[in-house]
Amino acid sequence: MRIGISTGGGDCPGLNAVIRAVVRAAARFSDCEVIGIQDGLEGLIRGDGLTTLTLASVSDVLARGGTILGTTNRGNPFRYAVRTEAGVVERDVSDEVIANARAAGLDVVIFVGGDGTQDIAARLGAKGLRVIGVPKTIDNDLLATDVTFGFDTAVGVATEALDRLRTTAESHDRTMLLEVMGRHAGWIAVQAGLAGGADVIVIPEIPYNVAAIHACLEARRRSGHHFHLIVVSEGAMPDGGSVSLVAEQTAGKVARLGGAAERLLDSLMQFGEYEARVTVLGHLQRGGTPTPCDRVLGTRFGVHALELARAGASGRMVCLRGTHVTDVPIEDAVGRQRTVEPEGELVRTARAIGVCMGD
Ligand code: F6P
Repeated sequence: MRIGISTGGGDCPGLNAVIRAVVRAAARFSDCEVIGIQDGLEGLIRGDGLTTLTLASVSDVLARGGTILGTTNRGNPFRYAVRTEAGVVERDVSDEVIANARAAGLDVVIFVGGDGTQDIAARLGAKGLRVIGVPKTIDNDLLATDVTFGFDTAVGVATEALDRLRTTAESHDRTMLLEVMGRHAGWIAVQAGLAGGADVIVIPEIPYNVAAIHACLEARRRSGHHFHLIVVSEGAMPDGGSVSLVAEQTAGKVARLGGAAERLLDSLMQFGEYEARVTVLGHLQRGGTPTPCDRVLGTRFGVHALELARAGASGRMVCLRGTHVTDVPIEDAVGRQRTVEPEGELVRTARAIGVCMGD
């Protein structure tokens, strides 16, 4: 059996743990070979980006961030960007992908990625390719799994950033704003904000009101607190407003979020004097060594994916339900995102300990 494996979308701590687990679990079977597809599906689209993964290929990757296979978030075969005389246009090259997978003798392909990658896997599955999904994203916004690997690492980095910003905030009586990733879900902001003792947490799921945030900070000042820590999700938006973008969506490229914290600070300044600084954590949250939790989850997901592949399954995505690794139809994970419930227990916990949620 030849099992292809591809990592798609943004890189994420724990991807190499999945690849390693698939290869090591497959090595117990003499009839099983794992083929790494390079750069998302580019390796299959080009037709020359396939490598056999051996135990040696994965011998030193568990603690390494990124992905040894490479990845891209521009490789959607159903909307593949092609440069023509008329400019960049999108083409459907999914038939070539399937033909190349067959020509390479791949019996099944494991797609490790977020909602975009799982959507691609589901659509290729519907066209006859045998596919297995493994969910990843630091944003933790995938439906059908309680948690994705990479998230724990991102929360750890963001929490450490808050701990570090606190000392400057305290020393200088400053308002420090930390912008974190997560796209349209506020999981990183809420978890890191709670872990790092933030005073204000602004998430996409709860549109913010600048006057309310200002009032909260004034109340803190009156009670003797002259510094403030504010966590802002990159997808945060003012009541009645929209997300802050640094780049619009173009052919083959998704829109890029950014500027949410600066925008919030500009608005706060209209209400009063703030000695404030903005830190945009950016890709520091996504790179570097995965936490033990993400290494273990990636390993468990990888082993389950291999078991599904061996059992002849297709169209299933590995997931975590409670404490158990299991699997669901890939379709259950796409089309909609898992976001923070505005009235849910996590938000109620934050409010109960006096955190302003921006409203
Ligand atoms: O989905 C993961 C993520 O890191 C988001 O949190 C962020 O908005 C986006 O990817 C950044 O993408 P890129 O690396 O393409 O700038």
